[in-house]
Amino acid sequence: MPSQQEILLIVDDEPAIRSLLRQKLSGEGYLCQEASDAEGTLNMLTTSPIALVILDIKMPGKSGIELLPEIKSGYPDTAVIMATAIIDINVAVECLKQGADDYICKPFNLDEVSLAVQRALDRRRLQLELRGYQQFLEEKVEEQTGEIRKVFLGAIEALVSALEAKDKYTGGHSRRVTELALALGNELGLSAKDMEDLRWASLLHDIGKIAIHQVIQNKTGRLTRGEYEHIMTHTHVGALIVRPLVNGKITEMIEHHHDNYDGSGLHQVIAGRGIPLGARIIAVADAFDAMTSDRPYRSAMSVAEAVHEIKQGAGTQFDPAIITAFLKTVGSVTTRAGSLKSGAPDAHPRG
Ligand SMILES: [Fe+2]
Repeated sequence: MPSQQEILLIVDDEPAIRSLLRQKLSGEGYLCQEASDAEGTLNMLTTSPIALVILDIKMPGKSGIELLPEIKSGYPDTAVIMATAIIDINVAVECLKQGADDYICKPFNLDEVSLAVQRALDRRRLQLELRGYQQFLEEKVEEQTGEIRKVFLGAIEALVSALEAKDKYTGGHSRRVTELALALGNELGLSAKDMEDLRWASLLHDIGKIAIHQVIQNKTGRLTRGEYEHIMTHTHVGALIVRPLVNGKITEMIEHHHDNYDGSGLHQVIAGRGIPLGARIIAVADAFDAMTSDRPYRSAMSVAEAVHEIKQGAGTQFDPAIITAFLKTVGSVTTRAGSLKSGAPDAHPRG
């Protein structure tokens, strides 16, 4: 039983043939349209959702053979049955190779025409259903992937919180760094994919501190060279920890989040734009949050003091382009305003 939505287009330059086919197929419940040439066919395809075209091969002007590829490329969901004189049977076979669904021979056996139409429409319906099902599955997979990612991110956030909870000085640091880094990424026009990577890297940037001795991390006095080197291993340790879980870009951001823009950082091998953009962003967000937080070795700076310090580091510690974005962003980001009580300004946070 044909669907009411399925419109057939009968294309033939002879009105008598169009009329014959229309009578037969309308009688079977199909909604039929007609065209007498290529131009009329393309107009009809543009304006109506044609399910199937019965296409005469020999027409004045553009032939059915020439028109077939145009229909198939412009309307791949439209089935095409070629109509040909018996003498053109080789041409009809060639049309099948070009994407036609079937062919019918003149003079028509109307019952065979009807069967060919039914077969082609059945096949078309099946293809559309399969595609719909495939789309549904793809959407489901994407949805599930999103769910898994959300659960995984939640677990990582919990792990980072647990790590920071044992240290009263770093509580909430990674979350705040993530918030500021994303604001900077947004200001810099990062793509959705790069923002997602930046979120992960910011959240995980200090995960390597799990391997740092608490006594050294919380030391109030000046660090020895060895102690400073030990603390700074957290970038490399962090990269090693996350490598099996995240992509290479995220790993690189974590590895290089303490690199100085001018290449002057500890054991630094890359500099300037060679440092991953995400690492350059995290460096600024990390330094700002460290400066505006109490640390064992000094009290928090005020926001204004921290902004001043960050500006001083443009071109040496920080990428100037990111400082420009930072100055536009910092006012809108929630921070704790503190006052510098003692100790030297710390533009080079220990972790
Ligand atoms: Fe760090």
